[in-house]
Amino acid sequence: MRSVLDTAEKVLDHDASILILGESGAGKDFLAQAIHACGARRDEPFVHIECASVPADLFESELFGHERGTFTDAQQRKLGKLELARRGTVYFDELSALTPPLQAKLLRAMQERRFTRLGGNASVAFEARVLSSSSADVRALLDSGALRPDLYYRINVVTLAVPPLRERREDILPLAKKFLARRKKGFAADAERVLLSYAWPGNVRELRNAVERAVLVEDDDAIRAASLPVGADDLVVTAARGAWTLEQLESHYIAEVLKTTRANYSKAAEILGINRKTLLEKRRKYGLR
Ligand SMILES: Nc1ncnc2c1ncn2[C@@H]1O[C@H](COP(=O)(O)OP(=O)(O)OP(=O)(O)O)[C@@H](O)[C@H]1O
Ligand SMILES: [Mg+2]
Repeated sequence: MRSVLDTAEKVLDHDASILILGESGAGKDFLAQAIHACGARRDEPFVHIECASVPADLFESELFGHERGTFTDAQQRKLGKLELARRGTVYFDELSALTPPLQAKLLRAMQERRFTRLGGNASVAFEARVLSSSSADVRALLDSGALRPDLYYRINVVTLAVPPLRERREDILPLAKKFLARRKKGFAADAERVLLSYAWPGNVRELRNAVERAVLVEDDDAIRAASLPVGADDLVVTAARGAWTLEQLESHYIAEVLKTTRANYSKAAEILGINRKTLLEKRRKYGLR
């Protein structure tokens, strides 16, 4: 992450196109916004285009705009996103979702640095900087023809690959604390262990959701492991990764059973296969409620 940020800093004020790669939730949009906000174009607009969510037949008009009367319902000239971005930044999120013909049109506009609105003749300058993202493997996209190689070389002057969260575990606790905001004091030791050992397949987005949900359900000042909505399905895997002791695992399991039985001790003891007295002793020992 440090080296990604170092590279990003070096090209902040350049016009070079940047391709941001990374798994879903790793922080590609976040990085794109940060590059815009810290760079020389920060006082101009940042225009985010979600390529996957604009229907192909509307995309051209979204991108380049159209003149009045181009379609039956085009009562007015409409400016496209490229024009609205002015000298700012235009961010093509999941660029490969564009159909190849649209990719060709975008490429032409990037090469000529000009485009025309649909149904018009006037040529408009394309002055925005282009950032784009992909969460899929670029090689596979090129091989399958989903991404045009000529466009790829154009948008990929600089590549920034945001690593998945599991490959930068040092970031987990600082991010988790940031997402707590000021609503809770922090994390109990067992919760920190869960945060650090869980694999976070949904990356920073999953961490953020987990912390925000934990804040809502936690009655204590600090978030406890039992309140984190992660690791429940693979507690044993999480425990092994986090190098937990048997006692730590036992305390989590007992806490979970107490939760599902709504602290019905007789029922919990039956599930755990121990007597009620042993359960109460363990509960005291582990500080469970
Ligand atoms: N370094 C960070 N600091 C604070 N919040 C972050 C950071 N990185 C990511 N986030 C947050 O994590 C969530 C996911 O990030 P983002 O939307 O940038 O991911 P993405 O890589 O674009 O995902 P997708 O491929 O699914 O669109 C967002 O809520 C974002 O604000
Ligand atoms: Mg995104």
